[in-house]
Amino acid sequence: MTAATGEGTRRLGEAPDPALLDDAERMDVDELRALQLTRLQETLRDAYANVPHYRRAFDAAGVHPDDCRELADLATFPTTSKADLRENYPFGMFAVPREQVRRVHASSGTTGRPTVVGYTARDIDIWATVMARSIRAAGGRPGDVLHNAYGYGLFTGGLGAHYGAEKLGCTVVPVSGGMTPRQVQLITDFRPRIVMVTPSYMLTVIDEFEAQGLDPRACSLEIGIFGAEPWTEKMRLEMEERLDIDAADIYGLSEVMGPGVAQECVETKDGLHVWEDHFYPEVVDPVTGAVLPDGERGELLFTSLTKEAMPVIRYRTRDLTRLLPGSARPGMRRMEKVTGRTDDMIILRGVNLFPTQVEEVVLRTPGLSPHFRLVLTTEGRMDRLTVEIEARPDCPSERRQPAAAEIARAVKETVGVSVDVAVVDPDTLPRSVGKLQRLLDRRVRA
Ligand code: DLL
Repeated sequence: MTAATGEGTRRLGEAPDPALLDDAERMDVDELRALQLTRLQETLRDAYANVPHYRRAFDAAGVHPDDCRELADLATFPTTSKADLRENYPFGMFAVPREQVRRVHASSGTTGRPTVVGYTARDIDIWATVMARSIRAAGGRPGDVLHNAYGYGLFTGGLGAHYGAEKLGCTVVPVSGGMTPRQVQLITDFRPRIVMVTPSYMLTVIDEFEAQGLDPRACSLEIGIFGAEPWTEKMRLEMEERLDIDAADIYGLSEVMGPGVAQECVETKDGLHVWEDHFYPEVVDPVTGAVLPDGERGELLFTSLTKEAMPVIRYRTRDLTRLLPGSARPGMRRMEKVTGRTDDMIILRGVNLFPTQVEEVVLRTPGLSPHFRLVLTTEGRMDRLTVEIEARPDCPSERRQPAAAEIARAVKETVGVSVDVAVVDPDTLPRSVGKLQRLLDRRVRA
């Protein structure tokens, strides 16, 4: 199926038979709000009664779970940050005795202690249910072979996707990340219909197909479920074109559950439906913390509605997006594709810049590959940003200079700041096997 858009036609997948959907996916907004309120009140009571951090935080803010009479009352409760989780390392945020925690995951972060999260048996089952729902929304069906290249281990990607795929009734190939030539061999031999992986690692795997003289478009894959890092519409087109697949976005974070908090539906590809029967979203002004109306961009917050081991109240994700009305699932709001995090934002000479803005520009410039990184350096008292981009293997050398000039001009025009651009040889920039770190900060601090 194709649909007309501002940029021409684009491919869309097939909607699932409504009989396959979970009950919550068929609820209208009023039914869903009633369910959310009951679950929210229970969650606030549980957190207050069983997690000392929440009791202290609610008391300090002068609020009590009984004050939550409607969903809007949630805005009076305090937010929770990554620092709160770190201060309660490792198990202090658990609301159940440790013996009832069946599994922990952790995210390493860049500094200090990791953030630890825990799940009861019921939490793991609900996680598998929302993940199964996500895979189905992306076009997956029982009986499909699913190649899972998200990392297994403390990262939630691998095991989260795995349990969901099994619950949907797929045959899972638990490859994890890395050993790229083997990824290509297993895709060729096992003929999966679905691949789950970070978009940046998918690009590395596509390159490996080509390096082995294989046509990636001829492989068995029909659906890609990509997430764990920001990626743009331009990147979707690149991957859909090079692999001849439908690509759908999946979002989640360890603190709230893992992958499967929100998912794009393949029949609309218009942002991610938040599975609101389990996760309640709010968007706030990142500076003042004031709740913003739907449609306005700001920082995304989540409150878990059914989690037992580690309920989270108004968790500040640092992800920037806005909430939109439901489309393919009319009762559930969508979040616009996350294009950046408050902490990925580069402030260059007073101008805010996100790596995804550079990705958009790079991918529409002929001759340049999607492999790029941003290098920050200091010159005198000024910060300088160099965009290093690999040329595509078939890019003639005389094309490089004009391509670099086009990027510099486009960044200046769209973002409003001058950057240096270096087009480098193919296959010279570091590749990721999981989440890609696009920014290299070489600034010298005085
Ligand atoms: O990345 C969970 C996940 C695994 C999601 C596999 C999707 C697929 P964390 O390691 O805790 O969990 O990192 C969460 O990653 O706050 C976002 O900044 C970013 N992120 C996750 N999904 C997306 C996405 C997993 N689709 C952090 N688009 C989040 C943009 C994403 N950013």
